[in-house]
Amino acid sequence: MENRRFDLTGRTALITGAGRGIGRAIAQGLAEHGADVVLVARSGDQLRTAAQEITAATSRKAWAMPFDLADLDGVERLFAAAAEVARGIDILVHCAGTTVRTPSEEVPLADFKRVMDVNLTSALLLSQAFGRHCREAGKPGRIIHIGSLACHAARPTIAAYTCSKMGLLGLTRTLAVEWAPHHINVNAIGPGYIATELTEPLRKDPEFDRWVLAKTPLGRWGTPQDLVGVAVLLASKAGEFITGQIFYVDGGWTALI
Ligand SMILES: NC(=O)c1ccc[n+]([C@@H]2O[C@H](COP(=O)([O-])OP(=O)(O)OC[C@H]3O[C@@H](n4cnc5c(N)ncnc54)[C@H](OP(=O)(O)O)[C@@H]3O)[C@@H](O)[C@H]2O)c1
Repeated sequence: MENRRFDLTGRTALITGAGRGIGRAIAQGLAEHGADVVLVARSGDQLRTAAQEITAATSRKAWAMPFDLADLDGVERLFAAAAEVARGIDILVHCAGTTVRTPSEEVPLADFKRVMDVNLTSALLLSQAFGRHCREAGKPGRIIHIGSLACHAARPTIAAYTCSKMGLLGLTRTLAVEWAPHHINVNAIGPGYIATELTEPLRKDPEFDRWVLAKTPLGRWGTPQDLVGVAVLLASKAGEFITGQIFYVDGGWTALI
């Protein structure tokens, strides 16, 4: 008997931060399971390349929609444009993220606010637009927020990032319990340390690299591909009874004392 529990054929996903790194890998993973994908980030060139590569690899439709998520006033318009071009959105993955590394006593308010806007406030606005869209269409939906180990604990110099990611987990749980009656499942994924452009400076620092390897029981940095399986689970029929959860994909980091 054919197993279709992970099949996303006929679904469309909007993925933010899809130009590179984790978002790019998740977009392709969802397309490999049958979904069409709308890709959002600032860099239009990166998005267009990603869209072409995903369509070439999977034969699914992929649209590039360049947008700066710090433009909070434009988020609703972005979602409406995506829903129009793709004729509906069924899965929302908020993966775009940014950080600033400064001791907390010195973090400029503008930097703090920008990180909160991109990582958290735009997630609220996208989720609101997506929730309205699903309810108006009378259809179920899936939201996946990309959190972090910072949903669980803090480390020095990244106050804005930590506040935004802990807030994202709070948003995930709140929406999950509010929107369960509408069959909109809301979950988060907490990646451990993953080798991407965002963490390149950290990987180049030998002391930090040693610290990551020592704290990760599986003994390596993750890859964007490591996040794809959980994302497909949470987007598919197989994840129908899962909501309000965070799944750490961290090589065992959060299990270690
Ligand atoms: N890598 C890790 O170890 C790790 C660990 C835990 C959590 N995470 C989370 O995973 C997510 C992806 O991280 P990554 O490592 O894949 O980072 P990345 O390689 O730097 O990719 C980030 C993506 O977000 C987009 N983005 C950044 N600012 C944006 C903005 N203002 N508007 C729209 N798009 C924006 C970037 O494109 P543009 O620059 O073109 O806009 C890019 O496509 C983030 O939320 C991050 O916090 C990463």
